[in-house]
Amino acid sequence: MSAIVCSHVDKAYGATAVIRDLNLSIEEHEFVVFLGPSGCGKSTLLRLLAGLEDITGGEVSIGGKVVNDLEPGDRGIAMVFQNYALYPHMTIFDNIAFGLRRQKVPAAEIVKRVEAVSRTLGLDPYLGRKPAELSGGQQQRVAIARAMIKTPKVFLFDEPLSNLDAKLRNHMRIEIARLHQSLKTTTVYVTHDQLEAMTLADRIVLLRDGVIEQVGSPAEIYRRPGNLFVAGFIGTPNMNFVEVTVGRAGGGWSLTGAGTVLSLDGSAFHLQHGDRAVLGIRPPDLKTAGADAGRNLLQGSADLIEFHGNDALVTFGSGGKEISALVPARECPALRAPVRYTFDEESIHLFDATSGASLRKPERNGSLLS
Ligand SMILES: Nc1ncnc2c1ncn2[C@@H]1O[C@H](COP(=O)(O)OP(=O)(O)OP(=O)(O)O)[C@@H](O)[C@H]1O
Ligand SMILES: [Mg+2]
Repeated sequence: MSAIVCSHVDKAYGATAVIRDLNLSIEEHEFVVFLGPSGCGKSTLLRLLAGLEDITGGEVSIGGKVVNDLEPGDRGIAMVFQNYALYPHMTIFDNIAFGLRRQKVPAAEIVKRVEAVSRTLGLDPYLGRKPAELSGGQQQRVAIARAMIKTPKVFLFDEPLSNLDAKLRNHMRIEIARLHQSLKTTTVYVTHDQLEAMTLADRIVLLRDGVIEQVGSPAEIYRRPGNLFVAGFIGTPNMNFVEVTVGRAGGGWSLTGAGTVLSLDGSAFHLQHGDRAVLGIRPPDLKTAGADAGRNLLQGSADLIEFHGNDALVTFGSGGKEISALVPARECPALRAPVRYTFDEESIHLFDATSGASLRKPERNGSLLS
């Protein structure tokens, strides 16, 4: 049985549709991340699941039960927000115990549960302190403890780490991953941070303007983006896009664009002579070409070099088009030096120039991580 099912869910504020005919099933124990640009409807969708907002149309089920008309408190969920307000005058113990006291859980039981949750989250040394006496990351853990103690069927997180500095974010991200490994509670997590999405998610739901663009494992979304939007949104540095014209060439295909002609076997793609397409190549998929490399060359002079430590991002112009390659730092050219890069056909992406849909044929087998 699915833990959560959204069936034809709509949400509008007045005449403005924010979520449109959305269908999604989330399995038990799954960690699903809603990812997408600001304003695409991530928080709204989470709040619809929580019952903090009413849906305009469709149906939401949690644990096999339609919850459209259930209050948030009756849905078996616990939510952690970006702005987790702890009660400043209460101790950490009392903050964590607050929800249980309201449910009139017996005192001895409360002590047992607070202690168990605090142990899991490493909060036991701080139970007597006030929130102001904790670091940001510790406060964040208290907010999670407060949600966990309800032993919910589903955890909902809305950008819980966005107020923390980069180091603490990394640390808390790992803690959340560990927590999910041990508790296995079904989790829906909203973020616009790709790294968080890629590292935490079993599946990513990529949203744009209230519509799902793609659902898949992080590897599927990265390696096999279903359209131009997904390809452009996922991956840092961003994928290079080059408009090309497709032609028949011998037994294979040619792509003409960016001042060059590339030749492909092309059997992995749906292609037709004369088609306009967009070629996508991720910067790390461009490799420094050896002197003997004869085909699939993109070349120009290095206009911009960004040193990243282990590698360097080299931007060059090819036929008036700016292209970036992420190469090992030891292969970094001098500024304005001529550069030549090549690629494996396996690593490229092709999209229909009009619809933006991927031209890749469906694959039946194979791990995308290999
Ligand atoms: N109460 C409201 N009344 C009218 N419009 C709203 C309301 N709440 C949200 N919206 C609109 O709905 C859209 C989706 O908002 P939502 O908060 O879900 O975005 P989000 O994906 O969480 O963005 P962010 O990453 O910035 O948090 C936005 O265009 C927003 O302006
Ligand atoms: Mg939001």
